[in-house]
Amino acid sequence: MTGRATARASANIALVKYWGKRDPQLNLPARGSFSVTLAGLTTTTTVTVLGNDGEDQFVLNGEVADAGVLKKAKRVLDPLRNRAGTRAAFQVSSTNDFPTGAGLASSASGLAALAVATAGALGLDLDATELSRVARVGSGSACRSLFGGYVEWLAGEQADGADSYAVPRFDADWWDLRVVVAVVAPGKKAVNSTDGMTHTKDTSPFHEPFLATVDGDLIAAKAAVEGRDLAALGRVAERSSLRMHAAMQGADPALVYLAPESWVVITAVRKLQAAGVPVFFTADAGPNIKVFTTPDAQETVRAALLDLPVVRRLVAARPGGAAERIE
Ligand code: DP6
Repeated sequence: MTGRATARASANIALVKYWGKRDPQLNLPARGSFSVTLAGLTTTTTVTVLGNDGEDQFVLNGEVADAGVLKKAKRVLDPLRNRAGTRAAFQVSSTNDFPTGAGLASSASGLAALAVATAGALGLDLDATELSRVARVGSGSACRSLFGGYVEWLAGEQADGADSYAVPRFDADWWDLRVVVAVVAPGKKAVNSTDGMTHTKDTSPFHEPFLATVDGDLIAAKAAVEGRDLAALGRVAERSSLRMHAAMQGADPALVYLAPESWVVITAVRKLQAAGVPVFFTADAGPNIKVFTTPDAQETVRAALLDLPVVRRLVAARPGGAAERIE
């Protein structure tokens, strides 16, 4: 069996966070989450089916990928290989067009692009929902990058994960928000998300209380996007993010992803809000702050952030489209 396909997928940022897995093997989350897929921050991946049953080869940004990347990739490659009834090895070449050091998770776009390209190379005709399930096993948040615009990941209840996949709720052009990532520190996070989630679940007294807030926040966030109400969306997104960080910080030993520089940016965003600027922030498992605003206020927000000595650079993004096969 031989075949080759290329696919592209975009990163996403959660507006309502997930932090906790009911099954870390299948990446089944304890609760749902809600994100926006970002144009411009993409991974392009080519998968070639090799005509033998040797080892998979993975080249990431022109270099042989490390063991951690290969391990996540295999969680997508192996099930698809089984489905196609082959033992052939794959050659994978993947490139992120992310600005270096942006601190944006490339695993979501990477595993989503990998799922689409691998299925294509194997000639498997899987719909986006099925590919969302496949990508999820590689990296939880990747299931959301199968779709464009504003996307909900259903937690599901089934043990095999059949009902845990992403669903597009609003198209990218439903609401033209702008995202400015304030990069305050480059580099890799100290504790990866899977380990951080397990540690939080096992040791933080604030984890269950955080999870208890998620269902209500999902309803509120979807209503805010439906009504294009930035103030309402900002309230949900900020509390979801900070309650997730509260749960992390309640772990023992504490998981602290935010840095002093992060708080400088958050304080600046709150100052802009107090001055009537439509803007809000969210932060994930790292120190960089993602700032949301409107096209009209974008320049004001950018100028205020660039004024902060802690900000090394800004990365701009906006709602974008679904993962797609491009070749
Ligand atoms: C804080 O789903 O990327 O960004 O499954 O270990 O790859 P792995 O983790 P991942 O974790 C994302 C966590 C988060 C919140 C979110 O995106 O909802």
